[in-house]
This record gives sequence, structure tokens and C-alpha cells, in this order.
Amino acid sequence: MDKQRRQEILGRGGLSREWPAEPMLGGWYTEAETEAMNKAVRESLDPAVGFGFFCEEIVEFEQAFADYIGTQYALSCTSAGTGLDIACLALDLGPEDEVIVPALNFRGAPYAVLGTDAKLVLCDCDETLNADPADVEAKMTPHTRALLFTHMNGLSGYLDDYLEIAERHPHPQYGPPKVIGDAARALGGKYKGRKIGTGAWMTIFSLHTMKMMTTLGEGGMITTDDPDLMLRLRALRQWGIAESEDLEIARGKKGTGDAGWGSNYKLTKVQAAVGLVQLRRLDEMIAPRVALARRRTELLSAVPGLTLPVDNAEFEPVYYLYNILVAPEWAGEKRDLLMAILKQDYGVDTVVANPPVYQTDSFLRRHTEGQACPQAEEIGARLLNPPTHPLMSAEDNEYLCAAIEEAVGRVGK
Ligand SMILES: Cc1ncc(COP(=O)(O)O)c(C=O)c1O
Repeated sequence: MDKQRRQEILGRGGLSREWPAEPMLGGWYTEAETEAMNKAVRESLDPAVGFGFFCEEIVEFEQAFADYIGTQYALSCTSAGTGLDIACLALDLGPEDEVIVPALNFRGAPYAVLGTDAKLVLCDCDETLNADPADVEAKMTPHTRALLFTHMNGLSGYLDDYLEIAERHPHPQYGPPKVIGDAARALGGKYKGRKIGTGAWMTIFSLHTMKMMTTLGEGGMITTDDPDLMLRLRALRQWGIAESEDLEIARGKKGTGDAGWGSNYKLTKVQAAVGLVQLRRLDEMIAPRVALARRRTELLSAVPGLTLPVDNAEFEPVYYLYNILVAPEWAGEKRDLLMAILKQDYGVDTVVANPPVYQTDSFLRRHTEGQACPQAEEIGARLLNPPTHPLMSAEDNEYLCAAIEEAVGRVGK
């Protein structure tokens, strides 16, 4: 933007309210959620009814979620963390097995692998923050059982490339490694015109408070088109019970009566009732987020040295976070200085989401000793994420962009 306009905007003196870089509530609630919650509570008070343990609300929520994504099935669970654990359990991993996970990540996907006997193999990422197909291919071995990739910050990973790579590297016993998506941050995003959550063996979503929608703070969902996998997931989610009424909805197929180990990872009735309302409102919550991000890209496009998010017909992100990369020569120190200036002088909070997992988590480092992902390290040192929220006003968005532009100019002097 031109200098005069920038001065005018900065002359407003600050943001209209405090915006944490990663807001604690990713969407917003209306009276409809409260009504749904109260209704579910009231209807549960009869001793003959109670809250569960499997109920219409959960069945309906799962069906609505599957319809929204465009998959045959959706299975709710307590969080994306437990969803990722269930996904890894469904792989039946042993000590000889390897699972590839991208280095720029939240700890959820790598931790899920570390919860098994398998080896965690980290792969490098490109400037989209997503797993770099070339490095995914380089990390494939005859021991690779799965690629558990993350759709970082609301942008799809390169699903078709990963699927092709998996086909080229079949495991001698199990065939092509399974391709599993962690879409905790990417609910509603699209890849090649289809919703994230389709195409992979399974995809895991988070309904945590910070995410695109939330079931009262915690929650998760897994989508798949594989009926056999769905049976296994159901068993894992609820005490090995694959032969239950809800199963009929999955497929009409009867379980064998020996569906293996399971525990209890179920969502509650009240959460599902609220989830149905949030899901109906999901697109309404995503649209302003996307509009704000696109406007931000327009406003920042002329700022020298910045790499801004990918957004085109092939990749339609939902902007859980808005990724900005500073120029490579600013990696580290100057990026840190830019973040400090933004905070101190403009009241603009930023976060780095996320650096390579092994740089911030010593448990993970111990289990991946000797593994390095140089591109991810460089990108992690160039990355910053300013606040993004669907309720942010156009004025606050402009202010934030003006602040970034001016602060970049100051760091560059
Ligand atoms: C990429 C990613 N995966 C997994 C998770 C775990 O989600 P949950 O909080 O629902 O367990 C998160 C949560 O922040 C995440 O960002």
C-alpha cells in the first residue's frame, strides 16, 4: 500500500482488540449451539435415557460430517490426538516398521507414531510447510508402512503425489504404504476441487477449541471410504464392539464377533448435538477467514522479500493460520527482530507454527536422533504467523498489514 495510506491506517493507533496469534476460539458460538446443548442435557435427565453411550446425536453428527466431506464414513472420537492414536493402532505396527511424518508439524502425528513400536521417520517440507514429495520418496524403504502427513495450517498436502509415491514403493508384505492425513487444522479446505478428507486411507480432524469448529472445546473425527477400516476403527473407538447397532449404519455388514482390542474414545451426546450446529455453520465461519486472508495477500503482495500463502484452483486453503515467510537471508535473527517489533511497537502478536518438531520437543529429539530436515529448518527460521480469525474486522486486518509492511521496512534498514 502507498505510504500515505499506511500512515493513515497506522494513525488509528492499534488493533481494536487484542488478537492472540492463535486465538483460543477458532470460530464462534451462537444461541443455536446453546439451545442444542440445553436440549441434549434436558433429554438426558430421565434415568431410562441418560447421556449415552451411543445415541442419535452421534450417529447424525457422523453422517452429516461424512456428507460434508464427501466420504462414505465418519467416526467421531474425543480429539484428533486420540484419532491419530486410533489410526496408528489400525496399522498394527511392529518394531520393524517405519512411518514417515513431516518435520514441520504439531507434535500430534509424530507422537502417535512414537506411541507404537514403529520407527518415526521425519521427512522434509517445502515452502507451503507441507511434506515435500521428493523427500517423502527419498525416505521410503521396504519397511515403510505409512505416510502420516499433515495438511499444515489449512492448506492441503500433495495427496496425489503421495499416493503415487506409495504405489511405487510397496511394502513386501502389506503392499503400498497407507497414506493418512492429519487435517486437524484443515477442516473445509479443498484439494483439486474435493474436500480435504477424501482420497486418503483415512483423515483425522480436530474439533478442539482453536480449530475451524469445536464441540465444546475438544473432539475429533476420522473420515474414510474403506468399510473394513471403518469396522476396525469402530472397534478401537468402543471396546472392540464392531457388532453394534451403529455398525449397521456403517455398512450393514456384521462384525465377526472378534473385532480386537478397543477402548473408549467416544464423543458425548452433548458435544455431538453442538457439533451438528457448528457443522451447519462451518462454511459461514470459514468464508470470512478466507476473505480476510485473500485481502491480506493483496495488501502484502508488494512488501519486498515476503513469501505469502498458496491459494489457487488446485489448493483452496481455509487459513487456520496465515503463513508468512521472510527472505532466506532474514532467517532466524531478522525474523525474530521483526516479530519483536510487531509485538512491542504495533501490538501485533505473531507465532511460529510450527518449527521442525525435533527442535522444540526433547522427547521427540531423543527418538529421532541423527535425523535432520534442512529445508524444514530453514523454513521454520523464516516463518511467522500473524493472528487470523473469522471475526477480525477489515480495519484490524488492514492495520496488521500496514504494521507488517512498516516493520519489514525498519528491519531492512
Ligand atoms: C496438526 C495438528 N494435529 C493434531 C492436533 C491435535 O488435535 P487435538 O487437540 O484435537 O488432539 C493438533 C492440535 O493442535 C494439530 O494442530
